[in-house]
Amino acid sequence: MRILTGLQPSGKLHIGNYFGAMQPAVQLQDQGDAFYFLADYHAMTSMSDADTLRDNVQNLAIDFLACGLDPQKATIFRQSDIPEVNELAWILSTVCPMGLLERCHSYKDKVAKGLSANHALFAYPALMAADILLYDANLVPVGKDQKQHLEVTRDLAQKINDKFGPDTLVIPEAQIREDTAVVPGTDGQKMSKSYDNTIPLTGGKKAIRKTIMRIVTDSTPVEDPKPTEGSNVIALYKLFADETAINQMIAEHEAGGFGYGHFKQTLFDAYWEYFSEVRAKREELENNLDYVNQVIATGAERARQESTIVLDRVRKAVGLR
Ligand code: TYM
Repeated sequence: MRILTGLQPSGKLHIGNYFGAMQPAVQLQDQGDAFYFLADYHAMTSMSDADTLRDNVQNLAIDFLACGLDPQKATIFRQSDIPEVNELAWILSTVCPMGLLERCHSYKDKVAKGLSANHALFAYPALMAADILLYDANLVPVGKDQKQHLEVTRDLAQKINDKFGPDTLVIPEAQIREDTAVVPGTDGQKMSKSYDNTIPLTGGKKAIRKTIMRIVTDSTPVEDPKPTEGSNVIALYKLFADETAINQMIAEHEAGGFGYGHFKQTLFDAYWEYFSEVRAKREELENNLDYVNQVIATGAERARQESTIVLDRVRKAVGLR
C-alpha cells in the first residue's frame, strides 16, 4: 500500500496539522510505503517572500523529523524537487471542468479572506491531485478540510482512466480520522493559520501558555457549573488527556467552583507534557541541519524514481511520447 500526504510550509505547524495529518502519517509509515512531502509550490499561493518560504521549508523539514517521521521508513521530500508534478497537473487540467474548481470551498474561503484570486489559487486542487497521482498513492491521511480536494483528485483520475485507459492512474482514498477531523482553534472555529486562532506545536512556554489562556469561553461565574457541550477547552483537552483525566475535567465543569483559568492551565500542562519529546528532538535537529538537508536530498532521489515511472506511463497513455 502506498501512503502519501503533504503539508504546506506556510507558517508554523499547529496542533490541527499535527492531529489531522502528522500523527496519522507517523502511524501509517509502519503500514506501507509512505511518501511525505513539503508542499512548497502550494505555499506560494499564500505567501510571496522568498526568504520566508526557504526558512519555513527548513523548519517544516525539522518538524517532520521531530514528530517522528522516519527517513528509514518513509520517503520525505520537497514538492519542488520534483518539478514534473507540474506536467501531470497540466495533463489533469485538460480533463478538469472549471465548475469542479469553482465549487471548491477552500478556494472560495481563501478569496473571501482576501487572498487574490489568481490562477494558482484556483488551480490548487489540480496540483494537489497531481501530487497524489504522481506517486500511485492508495491512501492519503488528511484533515476534513481536504476531503473535497481528495474528491476532485479521484474525479480527475477517473476521467483520465475513462479517456486514456483504465490502468493509467491509481484512484486514491482519503483517510480522515473522525475524532481529529476538525481540530478547533482558540476561538472555536477550525484551527487555521488564516483565522489567526492556532496553537503552535512548538515554541516558547510563556507565549504558548498565553495563547491557551486566550481560548474563548463563556462568562459563567467561577462558582457556577459550566457547560461541557461545545466547550473549546474540553475539546482540545481530549487530544492530550486520557479518559480518566477527561472525565475529571468534565466533572469539575459540572460541579462549579472552578474558573476557566484553572481548566486552561490543566490543558496547557497536558499540552506541554504531550509535546516534550517533539521539542527535545526539534532542538537536537536544529543543531544538525546537514542531516535534515541530507534527508530531503535523499528523499528527492527516491521520489523521482517513482514519479518517472508514473509520468512515463501517463505520457504514453495520453499520446505525448
Ligand atoms: P496544510 O498545510 O494547510 O494542512 C496540512 C494538513 O493539516 C490538516 N489540518 C487540519 N486537520 C484537522 N484540524 C484542523 N484544524 C486542521 N488544519 C489543517 C489538513 O487537512 C492537512 O491534512 N492542501 C494540503 C497540502 C497538500 C496535500 C497534497 C495534502 C498539497 N498537496 C497532497 C495531501 C496530499 C493542505 O491543506 O495543507
